[in-house]
Amino acid sequence: MSDNHLRLGVNIDHVATVRNARGGAYPDPLRAAKLAEEAGADGITAHLREDRRHISDADIDGLMEVLSVPLNFEMAATPEMQKIALRHKPHAVCIVPEKREERTTEGGLEVAREENKLAHFIAPLRDAGCRVSIFIAADQRQIEAAHRIGAEVIELHTGAYCDAMAEGHDDKAKSELEALREMSAFAHSLGLEVHAGHGLTYDTVQPIAAFPEVRELNIGHFLIGEAIFRGLTPAMAEMRRLMDEARG
Ligand code: PXP
Repeated sequence: MSDNHLRLGVNIDHVATVRNARGGAYPDPLRAAKLAEEAGADGITAHLREDRRHISDADIDGLMEVLSVPLNFEMAATPEMQKIALRHKPHAVCIVPEKREERTTEGGLEVAREENKLAHFIAPLRDAGCRVSIFIAADQRQIEAAHRIGAEVIELHTGAYCDAMAEGHDDKAKSELEALREMSAFAHSLGLEVHAGHGLTYDTVQPIAAFPEVRELNIGHFLIGEAIFRGLTPAMAEMRRLMDEARG
């Protein structure tokens, strides 16, 4: 695969959201993950939340068993999640902030103020061979802290940019995009691998995909929603096409 290849990680959380709406077995997130894999996903992302509102422990067991592509296991920095991650040793662990009352992950992780605690938290995960990624805002202070604690990857939160785009706040969208551009380059200059995600759609993906330092996008909610209308494989194919076009 060329060095310019931008990886697409497909987040399957919201297949589980639909399943859990009725408490049964379908739609099955594992089936979605396998289908995404067949359709060319470079990885699968799943967030095991403390309240298990979508992905379940059994889903993670199943994903570890059936996937051929890497699993990016999203989790909060809690002892419970650390234990689960150490049991499974997924390819990557993405540390995200988590609040029970939020609808989705609202902001980036506060790394700078929790530096010591997080450094100790991620050390055993790194020792177990997991690539540790930290989900953060496009904020130089947080990126420097992520670097200092020994993370290999940062994932930049694209939510504020996507929200501004959706609400037609052009100036805000422009300044958010500029911050993402500058901070991608800054993180890369420190030797961090740069990923991005949250809220990305066909309308917002290309400016982010065009940043040469970004190696991976993690996209879930929009793709799963779009799959209702056109199926997961065509929905992903269009995202892939847009990403490749932006990459030039
Ligand atoms: N990356 C991270 C770290 C996330 O927490 C999420 C949402 O779970 C995503 C990417 C995907 O966001 P979305 O579902 O809005 O595409």
